[in-house]
Amino acid sequence: MKKIDILLSKNEPKINVEVCGWVKTFRGNRFIAINDGSTIDNLQCVIDFEKTENSLLKRINTGAAVKIIGDLIESQGSGQNLEINVKEISIIGDSDPDIYPIQPKKHSLEFLREKAHLRIRTTTFNAVMRIRSILSFAIHEFFQGKNFYYMNTPIITGSDAEGAGEMFRVTTLPCSINSNKENSFKKDFFGKETHLTVSGQLEAESYAMGLGNVYTFGPTFRAENSNTTRHLAEFWMIEPEMAFYDLNDNMNLAEEFIKSILSTILLKCEKDLKFLDDRYNNEQKKKPLIERSEMGLIEKMNFVVNNNFKRITYTESIDILKNSKPNKKNKFKFKINEWGVDLQSEHERFLVEKYYKCPVIIYDYPAKIKAFYMRMNEDQMTVRAMDVLFPGIGEIVGGSQREERLEVLEKRMKDMGVDEDELSWYLDLRRFGSAPHSGFGLGFERLVQFTTGMANIRDVIPFPRTPQNASF
Ligand code: 4AD
Ligand code: MG
Repeated sequence: MKKIDILLSKNEPKINVEVCGWVKTFRGNRFIAINDGSTIDNLQCVIDFEKTENSLLKRINTGAAVKIIGDLIESQGSGQNLEINVKEISIIGDSDPDIYPIQPKKHSLEFLREKAHLRIRTTTFNAVMRIRSILSFAIHEFFQGKNFYYMNTPIITGSDAEGAGEMFRVTTLPCSINSNKENSFKKDFFGKETHLTVSGQLEAESYAMGLGNVYTFGPTFRAENSNTTRHLAEFWMIEPEMAFYDLNDNMNLAEEFIKSILSTILLKCEKDLKFLDDRYNNEQKKKPLIERSEMGLIEKMNFVVNNNFKRITYTESIDILKNSKPNKKNKFKFKINEWGVDLQSEHERFLVEKYYKCPVIIYDYPAKIKAFYMRMNEDQMTVRAMDVLFPGIGEIVGGSQREERLEVLEKRMKDMGVDEDELSWYLDLRRFGSAPHSGFGLGFERLVQFTTGMANIRDVIPFPRTPQNASF
C-alpha cells in the first residue's frame, strides 16, 4: 500500500496501485476524492458506476474509510495531473452521511472544537497538525545540531518554578479530606504537597550545571484563569538552558533559533503553507481595516527570517508607550503612566505591530514584576529578563540570565516569599560550582499559531484544555 504523497510526488503513471484513505467527496457517481493525511492533496479516483453495484456506490460517503485498487493514469480532467482508474473498491469503515458531523462544507472553528476527535479530517486541521509535527522535529534538529542535550524534567513537582501560584494540585486523597491542612499532606501519595509543573526550568538549570547546554520540550500546566486566544491550561514549552551564557548570548540564541525553525518550515511545508496563507488572507479580509495584518502568512514568516529583531530595554519601551498616540488619547485599556507597570498585550502589540513593525525583544525589566530567579542588575531595580514579542501573538518567548550569586538569590527569595526549604536543592547549584547561566522558554502553541496563522490557540493543539473545558 502506498501513501498518496508518494504516489503523486513521483508524478508518473503506475499500474495496479493500492491506496487507503477517507472519502472527502463523491461527485457525479464517478469522482471520489480521497485523502490519507500524508499530503494536503486529495487523490481523485474515477469509478465506473455502470459496472459497480448500486449498494456499493451508496456506501461511498464523505468520511468513509476505503481501500482502492486501480491504475494511476494521467488525468483527463483539470485540477490534477494524475488520477486513479478504479478497478476495485472496498469500504473498510462506513460513514452514515446523515449523522457524520464533518460534511463537505465550511464549518466554523467553534463547531469543530466540539468535534475535536474528528476535526483532523478537515483540510485545515490536517495542514496545521502536519506543520506542528514538522516544527517539533525542526526544534530537536536545531538543538541537536548545536550539541545541546535533550532532557526530560518532572511533570509532578513540589516547587512553583514561576512563583506565580498558578498550579494544579496532584493528589490521591479523597475530596472530603481538606488537603490544606499540613498533616493531611503526609497521608497523600508523595507525603507532601505536589503539583503539575509550570516550567521545567529549575531542573534544567541543574542539568546545565553538569551537561553544559540542555533543552527540554515537554508539557506544562498553568491554572491561570485566562480565557484568551493565546492561553492554554496545558501547553508545550521548549526550554533551553545554557551554562556560561549571559543575557546577550541568550537573546542571540533565541533569535537564531526562531529564524532557523521558521526557515525549515518555509522549506518543508510549502503546500500546507500555501493553503494556510490563502486561508489567512481570507480571514484578514473579514476584519476591519485597522485590525488587518499588513502581510500575508508566508510573507510574515519570511520577514521574521530576514530581519533583525529590535532590542530595547523595558525603560525605553515605557518611554515610547507613554508618548504614544493611543496612550495620550486614552485608547489603551491600561494607560501607561509610570515606570514599573507590567506591559499588557495591547502595549506589546502596539510596539511590535505599529511602532517597530518587526519582532521586538524587551529586556531589563523591573525586578518587581519578574520571577525570583532572574539576575539582579547593578541598578538594583531591574533584572536580566527578556521577552520576545511577535506580531499577532505578543509574547512568544520569556527568558533571563539566572541569578548565580547565592546571597543575592537567597535575599530575593526571602523578599518574594519563595519557599527556601522546597528549593534548597536549587540553592545548592549556587553553593557548589555556581556559574553564570541563562535560558528561555518558547511556548510551542504560540509558535504553531504564528506559522499557521490560526487566530485561536485552541486550534493548534489536538485536544485543548482551557478553563471549564477538558473534553476528550
Ligand atoms: O514567560 P514564561 O512564563 O516563562 C517561563 O516559564 C520560564 N520558566 C521559561 C524559561 O526561562 N525557561 O513562559 C514562557 C512562554 C511564554 O513566552 C509563552 O510563549 C508561553 O510560554 N506561555 C503560554 N502558552 C500558552 N498558554 C499559556 N497559558 C502560556 N503561558 C506561557
Ligand atoms: Mg513570560
